Amino acid sequence: MPYSFFVLSGEHEELARDEVVAISKSYDPRASLNSESRLVIARSAVPWNKIFRRATFVRISGNIVGTFSKPSEIYLPVSKPVSFACRTINLSSRKLDSSSLERQVGTILNQKWNSKVSLSSPHLTVYLIITNTKQYLGYSETQLVPKRPKKAIKRPHELDWKLSRCMVNLSRLKEGKVLCDPFCGTGTIMLEAESMGIHSIGIDFDGKMCDITKRNLAENGYRSRVINSTYQHIQKIKDKIDGIVTDLPYGTASKSSTSPKKLIKDFLSIVPRKKKLVIMYKKGLFEDLSKAKKYEIYRHKSLTRVISVS
Ligand SMILES: C[S@@+](CC[C@H](N)C(=O)[O-])C[C@H]1O[C@@H](n2cnc3c(N)ncnc32)[C@H](O)[C@@H]1O
Repeated sequence: MPYSFFVLSGEHEELARDEVVAISKSYDPRASLNSESRLVIARSAVPWNKIFRRATFVRISGNIVGTFSKPSEIYLPVSKPVSFACRTINLSSRKLDSSSLERQVGTILNQKWNSKVSLSSPHLTVYLIITNTKQYLGYSETQLVPKRPKKAIKRPHELDWKLSRCMVNLSRLKEGKVLCDPFCGTGTIMLEAESMGIHSIGIDFDGKMCDITKRNLAENGYRSRVINSTYQHIQKIKDKIDGIVTDLPYGTASKSSTSPKKLIKDFLSIVPRKKKLVIMYKKGLFEDLSKAKKYEIYRHKSLTRVISVS
């Protein structure tokens, strides 16, 4: 099975790592993944670009050929590219002369391929990934970055797209599955799901929020259902959904039908069993004693949010 690498952006490191694991395992349950600092190495049947297209916090990704100790050992099992570039990614605590390493490797590859060197838009990028324990050789062909969904209407209490996307990925839902956001607000989670080919159904008890979500979905040509009702409606559609991903009201900015504390408790008591469940709530609103994996996200001194995955 091929190896791939994923260099994380540095934001929310644990969340970022687990997101890559969740995406990889949703396509290939037998995938094995290891990480060292901001590098995740995956051994999996899934091509790296399938994971990269979805992952929120991955900066660079590609195939791993193996490890090397000297530039002269470098061998790449690819055919002559039209143009290429070498890039060093130093994730070690050592200082490195990256330009010199790139020049040495570039010269060796140039002797073999006689291809054009293009630093700005190479067809193939060769990566020299240096960690404290290993030196990896990787490569990737240039990829088109998928288009981000557009948002026609925004609101202050909306969740940022990165955390929304990451939560969708932590649910391990694949293309064609159906996600429900029973507190959809402006529809951020639904937009991210739809942009990855996952169908979505939104619920919000505030008619204005439903209109905003519909507008935001229409802006991108997504035809998801938006239901103007309370979250209890989820019980009526439970057979149509595969997972629930949602951002519960915190009490301050967003309108809430009841106290946010009681709302979480009541919501969790009616959540359909055996569905993937990824929720975000304000830390301290309730004591989650379940075995769910939890991630804390500090926003400011009176707001730390928790993402819980079960
Ligand atoms: C934190 S906001 C969700 C923000 C959303 N993730 C976004 O990015 O726009 C919570 C939403 O829950 C809705 N809400 C509050 N109580 C509700 C209830 N009982 N049933 C359904 N929706 C409710 C509010 O109208 C609000 O839009």
